[in-house]
Amino acid sequence: MTIRHFLTLNDLSSTELRRLIRRASELKAIRNRGEVYEPLKSKVMSMIFEKSSTRTRVSFEAGMAQFGGHAMFLSPRDTQLGRGEPISDSAKVISSMVDVVMIRTFSHQLVVDFAANSSVPVINALTDEYHPCQLLADMQTYFEHRGEIQGKTVTWIGDGNNMCHSYINAAKLFDFKLNIACPEGFDPNMALVEENKERVMITRSPQEAATGSDLIVTDVWASMGQEEEQKEREKQFSGFQVSPTLMDLANKDALFMHCLPAHRGEEISVDMMDDPRSVVFDEAENRLHAQKALLEFLLVK
Ligand code: CP
Ligand code: NVA
Repeated sequence: MTIRHFLTLNDLSSTELRRLIRRASELKAIRNRGEVYEPLKSKVMSMIFEKSSTRTRVSFEAGMAQFGGHAMFLSPRDTQLGRGEPISDSAKVISSMVDVVMIRTFSHQLVVDFAANSSVPVINALTDEYHPCQLLADMQTYFEHRGEIQGKTVTWIGDGNNMCHSYINAAKLFDFKLNIACPEGFDPNMALVEENKERVMITRSPQEAATGSDLIVTDVWASMGQEEEQKEREKQFSGFQVSPTLMDLANKDALFMHCLPAHRGEEISVDMMDDPRSVVFDEAENRLHAQKALLEFLLVK
């Protein structure tokens, strides 16, 4: 049997992704009704975190517990991963003892290499290149608030980063148009843009990108690992703040999303999170439900 991994959204087909998101909403309803559903009894997940996290750690750990399983937090500080044990050896050892592995790290290649040597499914919980788990929650949130996203226009404002790359993948898989407004020098991976050029448009104008949009999304200006660039990035991104005024250029029923953590006064105005168009806390909660659907998809046959 071939093992399914979730390293980018492309690891699932459009049909599988849509089914998974519908299932996420069902799992949310099951939890809200207080029903016990434990399909992962005695299953164990290793969670390797080389970067900080609140939402990802809490949602995966809570999700495994709610499913009757167990999640194990591993940090490179306290394991041999931080002392140079080869990834291939670590992958063989860890995957021989657990049922699924989740990794948050810098290099996307590390996750690819780990998966190549793993005997169990591997989930990318954020690399410098992609953040596919967040997209599951974002798509679930859009479907729950507004229904079908196919044919809609989504706008990305800010850095052409890991989240932006996952939005480009989502544009193809969910069939929506993606307007990206980023400052010069902060474009997303142009090979990825080129592959999806019939759906993706790049502009230097947040106003142009926001006009006629159904969903506006942004993210921090300096991602984890770019802390030293913070001051310089604040200058480069100064015209790229999402505010209620920018949202007014979008369609009437447009939503605002941010994967969080957010910096009020930087990528969003101080009042943006409290605007009625903001669904950021639903988006955060849906990390739990969407990842439970992902775990069920990968582990329950
Ligand atoms: N959005 C997100 O992945 O949050 P954390 O960094 O808190 O996990
Ligand atoms: N782009 C951000 C997302 C955090 C969830 C980062 O990589 O730090």
